[in-house]
Amino acid sequence: MKRRIGILTSGGDCPGLNAAIRGVTRAAYEMFDAEIIGIHDGYRGLIEGDYSLMSRDQFSGILTLGGTILGTARTPFRNMRVIGDDKVDKVAAMKKTYKDLKLDCLVTLGGNGTHKTANLLSEEGLNVIGLPKTIDNDLYGTDFTFGFHTAMDIATDVIDRIHTTAASHGRTMVIEIMGNKAGWLTLYSGVAGGADVVLIPEIPYSIEKVAKVVEKRARNNKGFTIIAVAEGAMNKEEAKMKKKEREAKRAAEHYSASADVARQLVNLVGVEARAVVPGHIQRGGSPSAYDRVLSTQFGVHAAELIRDGHFGVTVALKGNTITHNNLKDIAGVPKLVPEDDQMVTIAKTMGISFGD
Ligand code: F6P
Repeated sequence: MKRRIGILTSGGDCPGLNAAIRGVTRAAYEMFDAEIIGIHDGYRGLIEGDYSLMSRDQFSGILTLGGTILGTARTPFRNMRVIGDDKVDKVAAMKKTYKDLKLDCLVTLGGNGTHKTANLLSEEGLNVIGLPKTIDNDLYGTDFTFGFHTAMDIATDVIDRIHTTAASHGRTMVIEIMGNKAGWLTLYSGVAGGADVVLIPEIPYSIEKVAKVVEKRARNNKGFTIIAVAEGAMNKEEAKMKKKEREAKRAAEHYSASADVARQLVNLVGVEARAVVPGHIQRGGSPSAYDRVLSTQFGVHAAELIRDGHFGVTVALKGNTITHNNLKDIAGVPKLVPEDDQMVTIAKTMGISFGD
């Protein structure tokens, strides 16, 4: 029996998307008679009926390729049920494309937003299987998402390189790591790169406490300090504000977490400080070996689920086991760093300050 599979990548890209696409499709071709339809630019392509019938050779040679061969876009979940000026009923349009294509299932590769829409489509009666990607690692129900480890390697390399120039000049260097809501990437790369201070959104900081670390290091003849700050980190005063109020304030100030921390330390301690923003470099290029393996494992498990007709789920890593969760149980549940997370405790025991 032929199975027609639609596949899309949605939200911010990350290394490992192509490896995961290859994993699903290659396993599907190996296990059953599969026909793959590549949907362009995520849910936009599903809404607008923008897709192409793929051939097996199109999934060859993409294991190491960064980005996504299918293209991606951010199509916010909050607007999915909103009918805008174009008068398009997006949910009805997605269901129509699925039906017109006579799909047996839709495979969606993405993060939190993607999974919310995947769950919506599943509740609307479509056969959906998710794969968890994001450099933020903030998807509930999986120990790791693919893309995270590669971004951690890149961010760690940035910290390593900053370390040597910081030491030469005796400067305080503030490195801004991606992660607006979740601090996993900053926490893990901060530990891997030997940062002195790690500031994450989940643990509001006091700049005075950070200043004390810089001063103490100076007293101990350590002329430089490495600070890893998540782009969404906030101080204790900002943490008391309503989210909308904080976001408006930051937008008005053209806020940058690293520039803000560096400027305040110059004022408070009088050190020479620099802010470094690696930005989207953290999402670019070839996936690490770890992510190639994880993406392949996830892809193969997704193909097995298709073979077994098991839908309404997303694949996951729990311990050393590749498994799956019900979409309805994980959609809309962000996985943030708990204040008592073991890695936070380990970092604190190593003398890393969170400025709390
Ligand atoms: O979700 C991944 C992520 O890289 C976040 O860490 C970051 O806040 C955001 O995407 C950046 O989004 P964009 O690529 O739309 O600028």
